[in-house]
Parts: sequence; C-alpha cells; structure tokens
Amino acid sequence: MSRDIEEILARQPSIDFTPTFDDSFVESFRTKGFTMLPRITTDEEVMWLREVYDWLFGDKSRVHFDLVRPYDSDGEDRLPQIIAPEQRLPALKNTAFWRNGRVLAAALMDVELEQLQSWGHMIRKPPKIGEELPWHQDEAYWDPTKIYRALGSWMPLDDATPENGCMSFIPGSHRKDVLSHKHVNDDPNVHGLYTEPDPADIARAEMVPVPAGGVVLHHSRTLHRSGPNTTDRVRRAYSNEWQLAPVEAETAAHRPWMDEHRQAWSEREARRQKV
Ligand code: NI
Repeated sequence: MSRDIEEILARQPSIDFTPTFDDSFVESFRTKGFTMLPRITTDEEVMWLREVYDWLFGDKSRVHFDLVRPYDSDGEDRLPQIIAPEQRLPALKNTAFWRNGRVLAAALMDVELEQLQSWGHMIRKPPKIGEELPWHQDEAYWDPTKIYRALGSWMPLDDATPENGCMSFIPGSHRKDVLSHKHVNDDPNVHGLYTEPDPADIARAEMVPVPAGGVVLHHSRTLHRSGPNTTDRVRRAYSNEWQLAPVEAETAAHRPWMDEHRQAWSEREARRQKV
C-alpha cells in the first residue's frame, strides 16, 4: 500500500458515538420503506472518511466502473463507483458509521446484530457533470437465484441536497416485487439500471436531503433515484448494504436485464484479457 494511504489510516480517529432514534424512525421504515437520521457519526469521522474516499477515487485503477457510461469507454466519469472498499481497507469496518449502521439495520429489520452481513459501495457525483441515477430497486442488480432480506444505509460525506443529487423515494414501494428493469440508455454495456414506475407513484415520491454524517436507510425493494449534481462541488456518498445470509430460491427470478449484463460483462473481461 502506498505511503499516502498509510499516513491517512494512521490518523483514523477513534470515535465513540451512539445514535439516538425513536419509534417513528422504525415506523417510517416499516410503512414507507425508508427512514432518515440526521446523524450516524461525528464530523471528525466524516472528515477522515473524505480523505480515504478521495484517495480511493484518486486513481482510476481503483474505480470499478462508471454507472452511466459504457464499460471502458473514453471520457470523464459521471458516476464512478467503488464496490466493497472495506476489502481493500478493512479500517472502514472499524468506524462509527459501520458499527451504528449495523445497530440501526438490526433494529429496522428486527434481527440480531450477529445475523447481519455487510458490503459497502461508494458513488461519487462530480461537480456539474455528476449524472442522475434513475428510478430503480437495488435488488434488481442482485443475484436472481437468491432471496434477500436487506437494506442500504447511505451516508453522504457532503450535505446531500436537491441541487447536488440527494435521493428521492416512493413510499410503500418496498412491498412491490422487483419490477422490470433496463440498462441506462438501453445499453447492456452500461451498468446502471432503470425502471419506469407508475406516474401516480412518481407523483407521491419524497425527496430526502441528508446532512453530511447523517444517513438514510432504505429497503432493498424501495424505488429510489438521485438527481444530477448541478453544483460546482463534489457530492460524495458512502453506503453499506446490510443483509441476512441470502437464501437459494427454488426457481430463479426472471430478470432478462441480468442475463444481458452477464453477457456484456464477460465480453468486457475478454477484451481486457486481450489488452
Ligand atoms: Ni440504489
């Protein structure tokens, strides 16, 4: 590991922070499929996480792909994503964000802490060109042969506002099945997915600004989107998915967009091996 990240890791603050929440926080998750808490960790930890985040995104080789551009295409990243950063930097699991996310997820899902597995991802919306991520359900991206019970805990490292791409949610949509999805621009070489919810549902959507260091948690089937970043400042966000061990489904769900994805991904791998 390079010296710059070792120096950042050596300065990891030791944070002891307990979030407070009441019944309405849990009730909102159960009835609407999402719930927000204005603080899950301290400003000190957020400042340190920004340094780690900027180091990770500082080199293209550490970014997995852009969510809204074809794999390996030329041009500036508009929605770059890093998956499971904790595998590279295990210190990310020794944070108040991770510990408190687990406590909140256990309370919302009504399970024991020890039952929960997690994996993280980071999505960066660059100033001015950070694109929208259209309506989707997270589970649409996942393995159609598995049954999930899961939620995402999404923490912005910069205040997430309507101007820089905070998220919107459709209340109650977590009770739906996984809807039919397509790839952004109808191009299977683009990782991002979208679905087209009922316009009446879209009209009921709630936009949820979240301050840096706050968190919004949503069910894996809750319909959500995030807007473009129209500001001249970056919008950094870090999310952990919390789930029970997925169970093998008796029959795989019909998700043709995942078949298209697998095909495009294997072609990408073949191209990379030739280089
Ligand atoms: Ni999502």
